[in-house]
Amino acid sequence: MPKGIKIAIDGPAAAGKSTIAKLTAERLGYTYIDTGAMYRALTYKALKAGIHINDGKSLKQLLVETEILLTPSNNGQAVLVNGCDVTEEIRSSEVTAAVSTVAAHGEVRELMVDKQRALSDRSGVVMDGRDIGTDVLPDAELKVFMTASVEERALRRHAENGMRGIDSSLEQLKREISERDRADSERKVSPLRQAEDAIFLDTTSMSIKEVAEEICRLAKERLGQ
Ligand code: DC
Repeated sequence: MPKGIKIAIDGPAAAGKSTIAKLTAERLGYTYIDTGAMYRALTYKALKAGIHINDGKSLKQLLVETEILLTPSNNGQAVLVNGCDVTEEIRSSEVTAAVSTVAAHGEVRELMVDKQRALSDRSGVVMDGRDIGTDVLPDAELKVFMTASVEERALRRHAENGMRGIDSSLEQLKREISERDRADSERKVSPLRQAEDAIFLDTTSMSIKEVAEEICRLAKERLGQ
């Protein structure tokens, strides 16, 4: 019996993937890898360095020179860029508005996917993103495609912002989420789509706990427990 499995969680923006993936990893004693945080870390670095988000070649070079580390912290997971803690900064509205453009460059994705695969080269991993089941870990034993209505996702993000002391408008969040859905689904390279062998979960009327429980149940099924 395998010691641990690879779990791929994909879905549109603000579907609760990170929260669920983190909780699932905790419960199973697995490593959690937030691939969106990696694209956000590169975007943050590019904005700081004054690199244009349409310039794929320079973004790729920046990524070559950038070490992105995801480490466990008291609040879940800390993101370090060349040793500097940018956990909060990568959630800013500037980074959120630019990240889909950065993530659409083929040369950026190629290198990022290599980095992500290297991180998953151990037993027991929960990875969340947009292309994990289709591209990064096509051999994952469990693939989940998670979504919720745009209204529900905006409400969740609004509540999350409130808890972090960030002011936001529900209508604007809805617009931003719809726009990121469009950009992530329509891009040429590895667009957001459900892997053929992924389990579809509509979490609109499910609690975080219910979704995490369902994924743990599916994982145990895969492990033959
Ligand atoms: O999950 P998130 O909102 O933090 O992701 C930020 C952006 O990164 C999202 O708009 C699309 C992109 N992304 C991607 O293209 N592929 C991934 N595996 C993860 C995120």
